[in-house]
Amino acid sequence: MTRSLIRLIAFATAAATVLGHAVVTVPTPRGAGSSYTELCGETYSVYMEKDKAGPIENGVQRAGSELKCNPYLCRGYQYEDNTAAEYEPGQVIDFHVDLIAGHHPGYANVSIVDLEANKIIGSPLRSWDDYPDATGTTPRSDIDFNVTIPDTLGEACSAGGKCAIQWYWFAAGKQTYESCVDFYVKA
Ligand SMILES: *[C@@H]1O[C@H](CO)[C@@H](O)[C@H](O)[C@H]1NC(C)=O
Ligand SMILES: *[C@@H]1O[C@H](CO)[C@@H](O)[C@H](O)[C@H]1NC(C)=O
Repeated sequence: MTRSLIRLIAFATAAATVLGHAVVTVPTPRGAGSSYTELCGETYSVYMEKDKAGPIENGVQRAGSELKCNPYLCRGYQYEDNTAAEYEPGQVIDFHVDLIAGHHPGYANVSIVDLEANKIIGSPLRSWDDYPDATGTTPRSDIDFNVTIPDTLGEACSAGGKCAIQWYWFAAGKQTYESCVDFYVKA
């Protein structure tokens, strides 16, 4: 076999294993840092940073028992490495999802998460029964949308680190994608 043919087969095999790929890019989501590397471990964090839009399961598989963070909360990223934006009740926040590959349908939603309890506050701000939805309007409402900060949060999100807006996509019955936006609302 020629070298280029081998390369072609390797590429085709790699491409076939890509089911979906997406990450929020607006607002700037929570990202990597030293707390993340320490808690999630070197294997997971190095692997996940190679592809910021990759599914969580791939990193979890490789990391094994080295993983000491919860990868399914904000993809394992830690608040300690990030800062929170100040939003106001009723404020409309624009989102953009960088959808790199999305041929495998699933569900998606955007919710405010109580980070300490790892629980969703209230009902989802957005949800899609079928995601991605390429039949939407232009701009596509599945990748360019906005959410409104509820005016019912009270003290729940009164300081950085208490809450995040989490975008969540579960694709092809086996791949999870998450991006978190840290925020607080002045009480
Ligand atoms: C968001 O979607 C996921 C996957 O379908 C689901 O497990 C989760 O319960 C949903 N969250 C909310 C708040 O609906
Ligand atoms: C938010 O998105 C909706 C469509 O879902 C649009 O009608 C509205 O104008 C947007 N709001 C702002 C402030 O951009």
